Amino acid sequence: MDNQITSQQTYIDEFNPKDYFQTYYKAGEGILFGEWTEFALQHLHETFTKGGVRGDTLLDFGTGPTIYQLLSACEAFDKIITSDFLEQNRAELQKWLKNDPSAFDWTHIIKFVCELEGNRESPEEKAEKLRSKVTEVLKCDALKRNPYDPIVLPPVDCLLSCLCLEAPCKDIKSFCNVLKNFQDLIKPGGHLLIISALNATFYYVGEKCFRSMTTRKDELELAFKEAGYQIERAVYAPRADKSKMDVADYEFHYFIHARKPQ
Ligand SMILES: C[S@@+](CC[C@H](N)C(=O)[O-])C[C@H]1O[C@@H](n2cnc3c(N)ncnc32)[C@H](O)[C@@H]1O
Repeated sequence: MDNQITSQQTYIDEFNPKDYFQTYYKAGEGILFGEWTEFALQHLHETFTKGGVRGDTLLDFGTGPTIYQLLSACEAFDKIITSDFLEQNRAELQKWLKNDPSAFDWTHIIKFVCELEGNRESPEEKAEKLRSKVTEVLKCDALKRNPYDPIVLPPVDCLLSCLCLEAPCKDIKSFCNVLKNFQDLIKPGGHLLIISALNATFYYVGEKCFRSMTTRKDELELAFKEAGYQIERAVYAPRADKSKMDVADYEFHYFIHARKPQ
């Protein structure tokens, strides 16, 4: 693939959150709405209900301009800290948190999660609950020893990261190194949830093509073990809809629930 965006500075300049939402999550056209969101949201719902993962604080790493991944978490945690590398993503997230009329419309996905939860509340109530739980929108950089430097965060009960680490990491070694650095952000016995895609090489955001680290199944679980975690659950699902392989060429979805030892 020619003209792929690989350097951090070009990534900063070229990643457009509106194009990202439109390409991947917008009702009716986003290529991740459907198969991916169902996979991720079903596993998050189960993990935070019958899976018993709950607590005081959840930290979302590489939130991007998206909120879908936090909709079930807000039932299981008192506080949610969001964080992303890019200023433009944090600004877009702040718009949604402030109920700004120009914020992205997540109603179709909020309705889906309300249904998963048995329609106990309306989509409006659900959105308000999530807004009330998000206490911070921080800057993070996966490639720093302390990704929140100069802030030192108190360790959290659960660290979640969706579709993020394939962007900054160049190979499985650097992915493993990031997981090692995450240890300091998680309480002993705390949870690490990584949900992402396998075998990808690129993804488009609007007209821009970004490089993706190619994560292979055989090295993935080894990286968690080498980084010092116990794997509680690993689920892989093949991508069924291959109609948009020219937009993003991942082949599998994965969900890993790992735990930091006590
Ligand atoms: C494909 S988007 C995923 C966004 C969102 N989590 C989702 O599930 O759709 C990749 C995210 O990785 C973030 N990212 C890129 N480089 C990063 C870095 N060095 N540290 C932390 N996050 C980074 C980007 O800002 C972007 O929000």
